[in-house]
Amino acid sequence: MTLIEMSGVGKSYGAVSALHDVSLSVHAGEVTCVLGDNGAGKSTLIKIMSGLHPHSCGVMTVDGSPATFASPREALDRGIATVYQDLAVVPLMEVWRNFFLGAELTAGTFPLSGFLSGMKIKDMKRIADEELRKMGIIVNDINQPIGTLSGGQRQCVAIARAVYFGARVLILDEPTAALGVKQSGVVLKYVAAARDAGLGVVFITHNPHHAYLVGDHFIILKLGAAVLDKPRAEVTLDELTTQMAGGEELAELSHELGR
Ligand SMILES: Nc1ncnc2c1ncn2[C@@H]1O[C@H](COP(=O)(O)OP(=O)(O)OP(=O)(O)O)[C@@H](O)[C@H]1O
Ligand SMILES: [Mg+2]
Repeated sequence: MTLIEMSGVGKSYGAVSALHDVSLSVHAGEVTCVLGDNGAGKSTLIKIMSGLHPHSCGVMTVDGSPATFASPREALDRGIATVYQDLAVVPLMEVWRNFFLGAELTAGTFPLSGFLSGMKIKDMKRIADEELRKMGIIVNDINQPIGTLSGGQRQCVAIARAVYFGARVLILDEPTAALGVKQSGVVLKYVAAARDAGLGVVFITHNPHHAYLVGDHFIILKLGAAVLDKPRAEVTLDELTTQMAGGEELAELSHELGR
């Protein structure tokens, strides 16, 4: 099932062309990986899907009909949830409150929004604890500030929250960028769990190894255009790594540095 389809999408910020002629599909139960160097246009691409910026040209369809979102709220109401690296949680707030924080954003047509207002604090704590355990995130105390969790665990709480509140598309902007190997592993398992639960996942990363561990389809952006666009069956980790390594740039740099 195709949830989002982008065709020939472009985006300019004034005179800066950040994205041109990019096509991409998000399917239920699949992970679409978007790779690329700094400034390649990755965040711009997902900001169009998540309603932060309108696209300048091309077509985006959601559930088969053309869509342009005027706000992130509109995207959320269609089940498109985005987890940003830094904005995912409020560090000083308790874990359980962070878990339900997303619900304020989902007062629209999300399935569970109605019953939330009547829910008791005790129930919210229990549900947050159960949902996190279900996904293998064990926190000592659901009342501890979320800032006391590791970066990987915080990402996972944000993802668990989106899944619980009925997201159909989960967009993750570099969820493993600031994490070590072990914590990245936790997040990657979580990405796989979201996919197995039937969500369409868009996974943004610099890291071809991380992408290859969970990806079903791979797009590499360079200067706003796709330089690689292949399903898993047609691409190797080596090919992704080579494309991402920027061999020419490295050779140039090594020449400049005399090494
Ligand atoms: N709000 C904006 N106004 C003007 N230019 C922007 C804006 N946002 C992004 N750009 C430009 O668009 C291009 C793509 O930026 P984008 O943030 O999408 O890249 P990215 O692939 O996410 O990079 P990174 O890996 O550093 O996060 C860059 O040249 C950037 O300077
Ligand atoms: Mg970015």
